[in-house]
Amino acid sequence: KILILDFGSQVTQLIARRVREAHVYCEIHPNDVSDAFIREFKPKGIILSGSHASTYEEHDLRAPQAVWDSGVPVLGICYGMFTMTVQLGGEVEASTHREFGYAEVRAHGHTRLLDGIEDHRTPEGHGMLKVWMSHGDKVTALPPGFKLMASTPSCPIAGMADEARGYYAVQFHPEVTHTVQGRALLERFVLQICGCGADWVMRDHVEKAVQRIREQVGSEEVILGLSGGVDSSVAAALIHRAIGDQLTCVFVDHGLLRLDEGKAVMEMFAGRLHAKVVHVDASAQFLGQLAGISDPEAKRKIIGREFVEVFQAEAAKLKDAGGAASSGGAKWLAQGTIYPDVIESGGAKTKKATTIKSHHNVGGLPETLGLKLLEPLRDLFKDEVRELGVELGLPHDMVYRHPFPGPGLGVRILGEVKREFADLLRRADAIFIEELRATIDPASGKSWYELTSQAFAVFLPVKSVGVMGDGRTYDYVVALRAVQTSDFMTADWAELPFGLLKKVSSRIINEVRGINRVTYDVSSKPPATIEWE
Ligand code: XMP
Repeated sequence: KILILDFGSQVTQLIARRVREAHVYCEIHPNDVSDAFIREFKPKGIILSGSHASTYEEHDLRAPQAVWDSGVPVLGICYGMFTMTVQLGGEVEASTHREFGYAEVRAHGHTRLLDGIEDHRTPEGHGMLKVWMSHGDKVTALPPGFKLMASTPSCPIAGMADEARGYYAVQFHPEVTHTVQGRALLERFVLQICGCGADWVMRDHVEKAVQRIREQVGSEEVILGLSGGVDSSVAAALIHRAIGDQLTCVFVDHGLLRLDEGKAVMEMFAGRLHAKVVHVDASAQFLGQLAGISDPEAKRKIIGREFVEVFQAEAAKLKDAGGAASSGGAKWLAQGTIYPDVIESGGAKTKKATTIKSHHNVGGLPETLGLKLLEPLRDLFKDEVRELGVELGLPHDMVYRHPFPGPGLGVRILGEVKREFADLLRRADAIFIEELRATIDPASGKSWYELTSQAFAVFLPVKSVGVMGDGRTYDYVVALRAVQTSDFMTADWAELPFGLLKKVSSRIINEVRGINRVTYDVSSKPPATIEWE
């Protein structure tokens, strides 16, 4: 297995993802774990991540000495390259010039890491790589034993290697998809250089996960907030597989769900899986609390808080209802928190990155709830969660459904949330999704729903003038958002066919009274985020 030491980069988890895509097991731990921890972990290789600090001088985090004593290959990425340089006797210099975004890196010499990995070749025969760089500082002197592996015009040492010891470092980020050969590079490192076997599979994970849930929970009862999204659905199916009727799903309708979602969720879980599901209509409570509130973080916090309240009430009821055969009420709160949620909320143990959005399904809940937290998907990436769902026998359509955020339409209605807005948005969104599913791309034979990772409508509480028949209209605007991404950390807006956009727009304007203008969002992440709030 591979050990990834996290220095706090926003994209550290992507390193883990790429490694697991190569079917190699890996774990992320903070950069300051003890030497003893590293010896016990017995890694076959170690990767040092980047850092959120823009310059090297902002902090002085170092890799534990055991990394260098372990005798295994080490790959330093961005900040990881700096710390490797300093710890092994090279030099780093603060730079005024900041490289951010695309760069072309030229490979030097022949290294086991880069040999044959290139996007194209210069007429002189140099291998060139298209990469994504994000850094301020530079390595100015190689540590003893190292040779130059890669360079760019503004960064003469963009990669270095000490092949005798198996030490490699790159200034760019191989873990992000913008680095075209990044995956090949990381695969080369873990498979060839570290000698790991490609043997990590989802089926083994199901067995382990089921076993772990049984051990954790024993005979106690669990409640789970089922939202209808992929994550909580897969969590529910997994926990149901492990402990059956000890699990009660609480499906909270906060009034911010998609069209007909409630019905579909009940059919699947109560109807087909025979799980215990309590359906709570709390829409009046949620909308009441949200009245007059327009700040996105405040809205997220309110929705999170109301969830806690509803669960507390349900937990209390489930406890009271506990008969002689019962273990005396729910002791656990299960959540479909996945790894990207953990990272983006700044809640991970290993976490040093800054908070972007406070996801309402992570952090701070168990203290106020008086319930222990069960998060069986906490280490998994989205596509791994889907694979797991398939492994558990959930229908393909449900598992490959686009993700839906916990706060639901609450973050897709900009500013103040009103029931009227939610009703309009639900209908517009349903039309968009219906057309995406119905429109097949001839080149791939796939629907545009499958060709996009997430698509939805956003309600803009501004009015614009339109004309319908002979009359003037003065109605609201809806923005369509469709993105393609493999990790939800970076995303491109989808180039939907104009014909599809045209049909969706005309259907929404004609069928949803109250909306007279439809726009398409052409912003990528970063710098925009996928959701508008
Ligand atoms: P952003 O907008 O940060 O979204 O680019 C990345 C992914 O996360 C989802 N998202 C959430 N999921 N609770 C969730 O469970 C939340 O509070 C939340 N906020 C955003 C978003 O839909 C996208 O898939």
